Amino acid sequence: MSNFVFPENFLWGGALAANQVEGAYLEDGKGLSVVDLMPAGEKRRDIMKGYVPSLTPLEGEFYPSHGAIDFYHRYKEDIALFAEMGFKALRVSIAWARIYPTGEEAAPNEAGLKFYDDLFDELLKHGIQPVVTLAHFDVPVSLVEKYGSWRSRELVPLFEKYARTVLERYKNKVKYWMTFNEINMLLHLPFVGAGLTFQEGDNVKQIQYQAAHHQLVASALAVKACHELIPDAIIGCMLAAGSFYPYTCNPEDVFQGMEKDRESYFFIDVQSRGEYPGYAKRFFKDHGLNIAMEPGDADILKNNTVDYIGFSYYSSRTTSTDPEVVKKMTSGNVFGSVSNPYLAKSEWGWTIDPKGFRITANQLHDRYQKPLFVVENGLGAVDTVTPDGEVDDSYRIDYLQRHIAEMGEAIQDGVEIIGYTSWGPIDIVSASSGEMKKRYGYIYVDRDNEGQGTLKRIKKKSFDWYKQVIASRGADLEQK
Ligand code: BG6
Repeated sequence: MSNFVFPENFLWGGALAANQVEGAYLEDGKGLSVVDLMPAGEKRRDIMKGYVPSLTPLEGEFYPSHGAIDFYHRYKEDIALFAEMGFKALRVSIAWARIYPTGEEAAPNEAGLKFYDDLFDELLKHGIQPVVTLAHFDVPVSLVEKYGSWRSRELVPLFEKYARTVLERYKNKVKYWMTFNEINMLLHLPFVGAGLTFQEGDNVKQIQYQAAHHQLVASALAVKACHELIPDAIIGCMLAAGSFYPYTCNPEDVFQGMEKDRESYFFIDVQSRGEYPGYAKRFFKDHGLNIAMEPGDADILKNNTVDYIGFSYYSSRTTSTDPEVVKKMTSGNVFGSVSNPYLAKSEWGWTIDPKGFRITANQLHDRYQKPLFVVENGLGAVDTVTPDGEVDDSYRIDYLQRHIAEMGEAIQDGVEIIGYTSWGPIDIVSASSGEMKKRYGYIYVDRDNEGQGTLKRIKKKSFDWYKQVIASRGADLEQK
């Protein structure tokens, strides 16, 4: 393994999302958010896709976000552990419904604002830079009830107001911002990505791309606000990345791979280059989509492009036009990939491909020529606590060391990367499955899928390993 030394100012750290850690889901005036309507268990997938039976929690279902890992009350203890590992950055998100519980109040909720003030102060006290996502799968439920969420243009000024409120409030504390987490998720899990719900007979594509336009304009307005209010900050977009490989060199497969990548690049092309790409216009025409745009929108998009490309990388993806091959889909992958015979998979069926990380980073950099920020990467796995209270997660170290090594290669390829915040540095609720047993952390949390447990934090084997990685600036990846 190479001993590449990462740049001195490289932001090593971890990444979290409000709804997956905070709990306290109605505390201190917080309003209900769409993520609070996703139960663990069988109903979850359909709800995430937009087939939502009710806009209030269902009787008899367990909602993991409601308590999560109680970060809302325990963040000081958790941040102290992150500091012990040497974190330079922690990515968190602000829950929109803590700030504007229904999305439409005239004044923000002071208790919600104060929580994040305290959180950022605690991070800065330890020399950890907050990296803040404005929307990580969070929309106040009232806006779904009243407007149908992002399908409506009404959300644009409401989001801008929320963004301006937090940018202004935290302008002296937060210098790294991000607009929408995994903005391309809107196409795969529309309720998660944009609070969209559907009825029988809806033109789903039309609704999705109209909502996408609204999010893209809102994202550009947040970029504008950030540049106006905090001139020394940077603000990026966030893509659920992972390039598509064609299953064979048949040009049909290659072309399909390109189209699949473009489904995701579509968003970043607009956010980074400032206009809809030609292939999107053709896609709208071919599918009979008519996207309502207001006269000033093109200028807003053009004049307010992002400073960096944030992305998550867990897996590469593979696509085929051969109906026989398509029968072998990998399970658990929201992005619908056929199984790649060269690669192993995680316990949840997610393909493991460190080289794909280098490929994806190079492709993103070639395409956008902007700095990249790796804001999610990691292995969801089942961990076991031994009777001595230890957790040996060597498999996680193995996954991370191979990915970090490839990230080092990408930097040597000429790709500019600002930092690396691995996903879930402490165990958190899984976004896709709602489980606790799908763990990513360096720190174990005693809580199970049913919400039982003491919430005690335990350092895993990977804790000391990541500390060593950060201390050596990525040069010492060896598992001791
Ligand atoms: C990303 C999300 O999709 O992947 C996170 O931004 C999520 O919110 C992460 O938790 C890992 O996915 P999962 O389903 O294993 O939690």
